[in-house]
Formats: sequence, C-alpha cells, structure tokens
Amino acid sequence: DRSAQQGNSQARVLVASNRGPVSYSKADDGSLSVKRGGGGLVSGLSAISAESSEGAAGNAGDGGTVWVCAALGDGDREAARRFAGRLDPADTGGQSVRMLEIPADVFSDAYNGVANSVLWFVNHLLYQTPLEPSFDTEFERQWAAYERYNEAFAEALAEEAAENATVMVQDYHLTLVPARLRRLRPDLRIGHFSHTPWAPPDYYRMLPDAVAGQVLRGILGADRAAFLTRRWAGAFADCCERLLGASTRTDEATGELHVTLEGRTTRLGVHGLGADAEFLRERANREDVYERIAALREEIGRGPDGKARRALVRVDRTELSKNIVRGLHAYRRLLDDRPEWRERVVHLALAYPSRQDLAVYRDYMAEVSRVADEINSAHGTESWTPVVLFLKDDFARSLAAYRLADVALVNPIRDGMNLVAKEVPVVSDEGCALVLSREAGAYEELGEDAIVVNPYDIADTARALHEGLSMEHAERTERTRRLASAATALPPTRWFLDQLHAL
Ligand code: G6P
Repeated sequence: DRSAQQGNSQARVLVASNRGPVSYSKADDGSLSVKRGGGGLVSGLSAISAESSEGAAGNAGDGGTVWVCAALGDGDREAARRFAGRLDPADTGGQSVRMLEIPADVFSDAYNGVANSVLWFVNHLLYQTPLEPSFDTEFERQWAAYERYNEAFAEALAEEAAENATVMVQDYHLTLVPARLRRLRPDLRIGHFSHTPWAPPDYYRMLPDAVAGQVLRGILGADRAAFLTRRWAGAFADCCERLLGASTRTDEATGELHVTLEGRTTRLGVHGLGADAEFLRERANREDVYERIAALREEIGRGPDGKARRALVRVDRTELSKNIVRGLHAYRRLLDDRPEWRERVVHLALAYPSRQDLAVYRDYMAEVSRVADEINSAHGTESWTPVVLFLKDDFARSLAAYRLADVALVNPIRDGMNLVAKEVPVVSDEGCALVLSREAGAYEELGEDAIVVNPYDIADTARALHEGLSMEHAERTERTRRLASAATALPPTRWFLDQLHAL
C-alpha cells in the first residue's frame, strides 16, 4: 500500500549510504559531539539545496532532499535515538538526514562480516592464501544480516521518497537496495554508484553462486549503475554476462554499456570523481595547516650538505588494498641500493586507523609499524629518522604533507579511484612527482604524467621512487600543473549532478 509506505518527507532526491555526512561521539558525561564530513555527496546534495532555496522546487530549506544512512558507533546510535531517526539540522548544516539504528549484531555482521570483509576483499582482489574465504555457517548468518540491513534501507527510502523521486544508492554496503526498492516503489528512478573497483568474473565467482547472483541482480535493479572508471564498469558487465547470462551491448549514442537481464535493461555509467580544488586550496591555507607545515619541516630536517631533505609522502587509511607494507619495502630497497639517498630523504607515512573491528586490519596496522621500525633501526642515524609514521587521523596534517611533498607514493593493489593522487597536485607548493599504481582508477586519468608502477613489484617501485626524487624541478612543476588539471576535470558537484541528470 503506497500511502502507508510514504512518509511526510516527500523527498525529490534521496541519497543512501552506509556512512552518513555526520558522525557523533559520546563523552563520559553523556553529551554528544558531532563531526561533519565532506566529499562528493555532501557537495552534490548541498548544490541541489542551494538551487531550490533560490526559488526552484523543494521544501523546508533542505531542497526536498533526504540522506539515509546507518548509525555506525555508540554516539550515532544515541543520536539516532535522541532525535528519533531524523537528525537535528543544526548538526547537519541544514541537510535532512535520517540515521537508521540497525540492531548492533545485525549491523556488525552486515558491515564487518559481509561488506568490509567479503565484498571489499573480492572487489580489491585481496583474497590470497592464507586469507581465502570459507563460506560456511558464520557467513550464512552474516549474509542474512546483510539482507536485513539492506531491507531496512529499502524500507526507509520507500517511506521518504515522493512520487517519481530519484534515489542514489551508494556502494557495496547497499547492493541489494536497488532491486528491493524497485519492488516496493516501481515509480522511483534508482541509481547505484560503486566507489570501489569491480572484480573480473573468474575472481568474482569465488562467492557462493546465490550470493554473487543476488549482488549482481540487486544492482541491476537500478535504472543506471555507475562506476568510477570504464574498467570497473566493464568488469561488472562481464560478471553479469558470465554469471547471470545477461546480454550486454554498447549504446552508440552515449557510449554507455547496457546490460539486459530478463527483459529489463540497466545502463552503466562512468563518472570519474575529481578533486575539489576550491575547497582544498582554501582549507590548505588555514592557520592549522601552517602549524603542521612547520612541525613537518622539523621532522624532515636538513641533510649533511645543509640542504632541506626531500620529503616522500603517503597518506592513506591503513587499509590492505593501499599496499603500505610493500611501499615501505620499496623505500628500504631504495636506501639499500642507492646510498646517495641516505640522510637526504625522509618518508612521511600518514597511515590513519581504519576498520579496527577487523583483526586483519589491526594486524596490518601492527605490520606497518613493525616494518617502519625495522627500516629506522637498519638505516637511521643520530640525526636522521628515515621513516616518520603518523597514526592519528588529522586532515590538516594531510594537507600540510601534500603541500610539502617532493614525491607522493600512491601504490594500491587496487583502488576505485584514489583521491590522494588527485589532491596532492592541486595543493602542492613546489610541484610533486607522483608515483602511481597502474591498478588505481586514477591511473586512467593521470597515467601520462605520473611515474607508473606495478604495485606488487618492489624493485620497480624503488626505481620509481628514485626517478621521482631525481626529477628536475622544472619538469616536476610542469607535470604537476598537468596532473592538477586532469585531477580537477570533474569536480564533486558536477560529478553528482551529472549522475542525477543522467537518471
Ligand atoms: C571506501 C568506501 C566508502 C567508505 C570508505 C571508508 O572509500 O568506498 O564507502 O566509506 O572506504 O571506510 P569505512 O568503512 O570507514 O566507511
């Protein structure tokens, strides 16, 4: 019954994602503090709100938009309860946000068990001996939770959406939502966006057949499923062909892939999210960034010749797909093989904690620290620490490191896009050589002016680091200028609005 499903909000544009635009933490005295995030979805939705508050469609100042997300930690749960699901606009910058409180065990099985373990690992090709999965009773329980969790989103969206509204569902956490939502609300226009890579069929089919089938069919429930690069869209289409027997063709007018299964066609779009130059340049010029620059300059110090040392920078979540450990091995190889760099370079490795509920991430973080210590004991001197590791998330420090970097190392095993590769050239002070994995989505746009590496090849990565550190200043600044222009070709607001219009 449609009228029972529709709530009062009657939103025209809806976004659904696991992680919402705000997060809450709870202090000992019970008070909640809120932290607002950024990114393409935030700027996209606020662009719509801005348009409609200037007199076009919309209601109540939020432009007729709603963002549906999950409560992630205890602070979020408390906030979701206190505000009965709909957050206080004072916390969200006016954006209407509905935060779903999913039972804690269901959420953990869906998010940690299925999304961040199985689906993330498959699409980033992270399963290798001895990490290969075994799908048994534990996974069956987790999968049932993933279904419930997706169902909760589909129901909330069905309630919030106005007739013929547009819903933009995000990422691997919510693959089942498009098909389920279509069943509840056939009137809606539904998009899905994958922020990750997609695995080729030979790898993808390690998932249980029924699970692979549900994920693919879930996304095909959308009118349009979009990806960050043609490569990931193509892999998704290949999986639909090989695993489901769908037919695919390229639409001549738009160049888009079309996937047809059982008489319904889903269009596949490609939107390569770019860096937000305006935001980054403004943010990178604030006082707190200057403070961090001064502190990092101290860490970098001066070599025996009295000149400032070179800064080799990386900034990542401590995430297996980011390949931080092999990056450290490559740096060690550089110092082993090319003594001319000893005392003359410092590796600033900003490796922020991520997904610490998962043991394999905690172990990875320990491994990163262990290898950094090893390098420091092998090569360090009284006046020189070869690797300086920062393990506490600090955006101002990331920007300071971007500005100072002589070489940036972005060497993921696989990455949907990788925005660090795009952000560094935009804010770099003196030009920065970019060492970039050919397996990052960003490679498709930045490959020509980056120094490209095979992320598994440590010798090749060490060679690339040497090339980057040796690059002449003029060439470096010229390449950085071209990288910045490619990196900002599709700013976040346009990235979002293009998808909306295509739907
Ligand atoms: C990737 C995913 C996002 C996710 C982010 C951080 O970029 O595509 O959906 O939000 O990682 O991971 P987390 O598990 O902390 O949300």
